[in-house]
Amino acid sequence: MESQNKWSMKMSKGLDMEIIHHPPKMRSVVNLIIAMERLKAADMFEFRDEELLSFMRESIIEERVVFETTAAPTQEYIKTEESLCMVNDTENKSLYWVPNNMELNAIILQGGADTCRAHMSMSTYVHPAPPVETQIVALGIRNTNYFLSCHKDGEVPTLRVELVEDKDSLQRISSNSDLNRFLFYKTVTGVNISTLVSVRYSDFYISTALENNRPVELCQDSAPRYRSLVFEQLNKNSGCERQL
Ligand SMILES: *[C@@H]1O[C@H](CO)[C@@H](O)[C@H](O)[C@H]1NC(C)=O
Ligand SMILES: *[C@@H]1O[C@H](CO)[C@@H](O)[C@H](O)[C@H]1NC(C)=O
Ligand SMILES: *[C@@H]1O[C@H](CO)[C@@H](O)[C@H](O)[C@H]1NC(C)=O
Repeated sequence: MESQNKWSMKMSKGLDMEIIHHPPKMRSVVNLIIAMERLKAADMFEFRDEELLSFMRESIIEERVVFETTAAPTQEYIKTEESLCMVNDTENKSLYWVPNNMELNAIILQGGADTCRAHMSMSTYVHPAPPVETQIVALGIRNTNYFLSCHKDGEVPTLRVELVEDKDSLQRISSNSDLNRFLFYKTVTGVNISTLVSVRYSDFYISTALENNRPVELCQDSAPRYRSLVFEQLNKNSGCERQL
């Protein structure tokens, strides 16, 4: 290291050479140089050991402030894969969608009325720093441009089925973009069972009512609603005449 010579030349009695032999982190190097410059300006030989130490410490603490003020990097959610599924709550109420409606309902369907169930496509996203043990997903209605999204209706976050002009806009979503309304943290809580929490309103879950045939909504932890959802994988080729 070229600076080693330079440092040695500047080095005066009372500064330990060892700091240089262990390659320090860049910040330490900078701090040390700053401290050295200050020491050069002062009359070194008038310092007692403890004065020298506190001088060094002061310099290091002061400069640390400067080096830690870096801006948080913008993060991006990037879509990686897509799978097909149908969703129930844990009471066998099936998510059901009437075309062009702005909401899903949860309905007990009798005798294998599967064609009435909403066939969903679930997109999975990668993110540089997802919360531990969760996936980031977006949920759309299969073969449509409709996606579940979270909005604030007054003070209360609500769930909507929203028409997206351009599906490609959901391919990459910046973490501070408005499009984060389409994203959910999916946490697996049992075999084929997960909860879905809004990325935008981070303590609001997709949930169904205790009663039959009510809208699927967002709710908090304490609300008397069902937050566990049962996912049933759909085969890519499974026919579905009723879907658009
Ligand atoms: C849900 O349906 C399955 C069969 O389709 C049944 O075995 C199960 O007991 C039902 N669960 C509830 C909570 O009704
Ligand atoms: C979902 O609920 C329907 C009844 O609405 C039932 O037939 C089906 O077996 C349930 N699926 C799962 C995976 O629990
Ligand atoms: C979980 O889902 C898979 C695929 O949809 C299915 O084969 C399996 O039987 C399910 N397991 C339970 C416990 O429901």
